[in-house]
Amino acid sequence: MRPKCFITRVIPEAGMELIRKHLDADVWEGELPPPRDVFFERVRGVQGILCLLSDRIDKEVMDAAGDSLKVISVMAVGYDNVDVQEATRRGILVTNTPGALTETTADLTFALILAIARRVVEAVQFVKQGKWKTWSPTLLLGEDVYGKTIGIIGFGRIGQAVARRAKGFAMEVLYYDYKGREFDGGKRCKTLDELLSHADFVTLHIPSTPENKKIVDKRFFEKMKPTAFFINVARGDLVDTGALVDALRQKRIKGAALDCTDPEPLPPDHPLLSLDNCIVLPHIGSASEKTRNEIARLAAINLIKALASEMPPHPVNPEVLGR
Ligand code: GLV
Repeated sequence: MRPKCFITRVIPEAGMELIRKHLDADVWEGELPPPRDVFFERVRGVQGILCLLSDRIDKEVMDAAGDSLKVISVMAVGYDNVDVQEATRRGILVTNTPGALTETTADLTFALILAIARRVVEAVQFVKQGKWKTWSPTLLLGEDVYGKTIGIIGFGRIGQAVARRAKGFAMEVLYYDYKGREFDGGKRCKTLDELLSHADFVTLHIPSTPENKKIVDKRFFEKMKPTAFFINVARGDLVDTGALVDALRQKRIKGAALDCTDPEPLPPDHPLLSLDNCIVLPHIGSASEKTRNEIARLAAINLIKALASEMPPHPVNPEVLGR
């Protein structure tokens, strides 16, 4: 009998194809996450769940699924939406999709850096609104990226991929690693303050964990140069959104470019959306055709392998397998 699974959204075809072939899958076809009561209903008795980063998988969901639940496969590198501790306690394997989205996310980081520094979004609006009358020596002046200093917080796979791109822009690469680890590809700052006080672009590449929620706070922005930009392609809840709004309003920093926000999505009347020195994208870091297909495929393979009692490519809590 094929394992029974709940797939919380239609995912790219490379993943759907494998799912149809190997699993008895119930797929939620809505664009929005399934409502909680529906979620509870649909997971009852399943062996596996394939979810997105916007699905909260907590104790209640695990209770609703019951003892049959063996695997939670997240189609993302970040798995902060899952209560991994609780899953581990129950012997449920959690998997994610690292690696495949590294370069795509680093590309988007650079798109944000260039867009905020060179006012690309404002410039597009300017043209579309019919305001372009002539070439002007002082029109939409921004900041250079080439030759500046980039401060990368979190020097894992994505942080290092951003550093490689920065080298092509002759940037000085500073990084800060919370565990104090040394890496090639940049100059390690011993303290976060050292990075914040030197960087022209401060970019965040750490996972969201209970310890580092809102680590980007009022004090963080006070330490940044007033001419510097803040970039976030990691997770919105790493940032104290109120402090960011204040820093941007008071011009404590020059600007921010965000692919992740807290909350997500932002309501249309949110202050971040009315500030000229802020651009916001709808969490599209890994959104290239190729990469989304690849992470869908990986998420499906993780689920299928784990349910066949084989080692999946990317277990988050492999310790449960040895039990
Ligand atoms: C996207 O944010 C991911 O974690 O893959």
